[in-house]
Amino acid sequence: MWEKRSDMVVYDVEPFNAEPPPGALLDHITPLDTFYGRNHGPIPRIDAGNWRLRVDGLVDRPLELSMDDLRHRFPQRTVVATLQCAGNRRADLMRFRDIPGQQPWGPGATSTARWSGVSLAKVLAEAGLQGHAAHIAFTGADVSQEADPPQPFGASIPTAKATSEEVLLAWAMNDQALPTAHGAPLRVVVPGWIGARSVKWLQRITAQAQPTDNYFQTGYSVLPPEADPHNTEPGEGITLGPITIHCAILQPEYGAQVPAGPTHVTGFALAGDDRTVARVDVSGDGGSTWIRADLDAPENPWTWQHWRATLTLPAGGTELVARAWDSTAAVQPESPATVWNPRGYANTSWARLYVTCHR
Ligand code: MTE
Repeated sequence: MWEKRSDMVVYDVEPFNAEPPPGALLDHITPLDTFYGRNHGPIPRIDAGNWRLRVDGLVDRPLELSMDDLRHRFPQRTVVATLQCAGNRRADLMRFRDIPGQQPWGPGATSTARWSGVSLAKVLAEAGLQGHAAHIAFTGADVSQEADPPQPFGASIPTAKATSEEVLLAWAMNDQALPTAHGAPLRVVVPGWIGARSVKWLQRITAQAQPTDNYFQTGYSVLPPEADPHNTEPGEGITLGPITIHCAILQPEYGAQVPAGPTHVTGFALAGDDRTVARVDVSGDGGSTWIRADLDAPENPWTWQHWRATLTLPAGGTELVARAWDSTAAVQPESPATVWNPRGYANTSWARLYVTCHR
């Protein structure tokens, strides 16, 4: 299905929503067949030859660009960046308190690719961005029936982020043509921000004074725990943008049976936006004692950093825990109780999983 490996955890076939098993995320760059897929509508197949990108709104020179225009009129740029859905690790929130109607994503709604295309900043400069254009809105080609009313998927980001050179209009992923399921012929990649802002099957870029009123812009927001997600007041939620420090344990997997004694524990941590991961600690006894994990150096601020540690585990059931700090000394909160929210987004709490150790 969509050229994915056969052991993907598939939540929905249509719209296609699937994540790889945690152990498949140990590589720094995620292979195309392993990269998670998150969709709110049917995946469109677009004829790249007839496709045009419209750039309009608060610009001096509205543009209509073909793929050839994008490839030949602008310098090509490649950025390694981790994409992560705001619903990543929702399953851990659901173990604390149920979240009806939402997919129980594990840590695999996160993957990393080498993205190639052009900097959005260059296209906006060519269009002549006006001074009062505070937000850049993106509209995709897929129409989502989940939206009220049904509408194409869309998002916006502030101009300050949109004009940073790392935000790409990408046509290649891991040096191969962008797959249909990941947004061909062209998608936005907003490194360090929640995946929902990286709009696939891009049709239109609009410079505007306000954030977009697309359903999915405020749909991806954190509500206070008491809020009714089906009946919210305007402005009640906090619209999600930059990712916040968190980590996940990839190996062993949740519920694994492992031999007692020295056990290798591996995972990733992601700081998001302009921060990096500074430290990861791991515990083999539910957080009573900790050791410092060996952490990979950051490739850039937008890419996950893997870590590893060896814990000596006693026989019986035990809880493995990991906690991370970022380069601003922000640290993950201990419990899902602190961060639980009715849509189950942005689970930044310590990574925890149970294993059983046998002699
Ligand atoms: N873009 C469009 N057009 N339609 C979508 O449903 N899903 C968003 C984003 N861009 C989406 C979209 C969400 S919620 C995420 S997490 C990422 O795409 C997932 O990207 P991927 O499927 O390439 O992993």
